[in-house]
Amino acid sequence: MRFFPLEKLINLHDGYTANIKIDHLSLLLLQRGEERYLIESHCPHRNHPLDVALIDGKAIECPLHHYRFSLASGELLAATEEPCRGLRTFELVYEGNEVGVVLDD
Ligand code: FES
Repeated sequence: MRFFPLEKLINLHDGYTANIKIDHLSLLLLQRGEERYLIESHCPHRNHPLDVALIDGKAIECPLHHYRFSLASGELLAATEEPCRGLRTFELVYEGNEVGVVLDD
């Protein structure tokens, strides 16, 4: 397991959105209000980028087919076509003045 720093805390704010690549993983770091989330960057339905998705409360809605997922758990909340798996979510870890994620080496 290894800590990967993602961003300095001082740079985070309401509305923050950043695409982050760690090896083969493509992630999206978000802050809305006081809540921070780390999720996979593309929709599990048909792989549309989620950095342009609508965020409504604690749910994210992909603009392509309007599937909705919980930002906290990744659970699929609404689907307009066949169901798909949930969104991958990652726990944020705080170390010093940075936020990051712990991943397998
Ligand atoms: S690609 Fe996201 S809802 Fe279909």
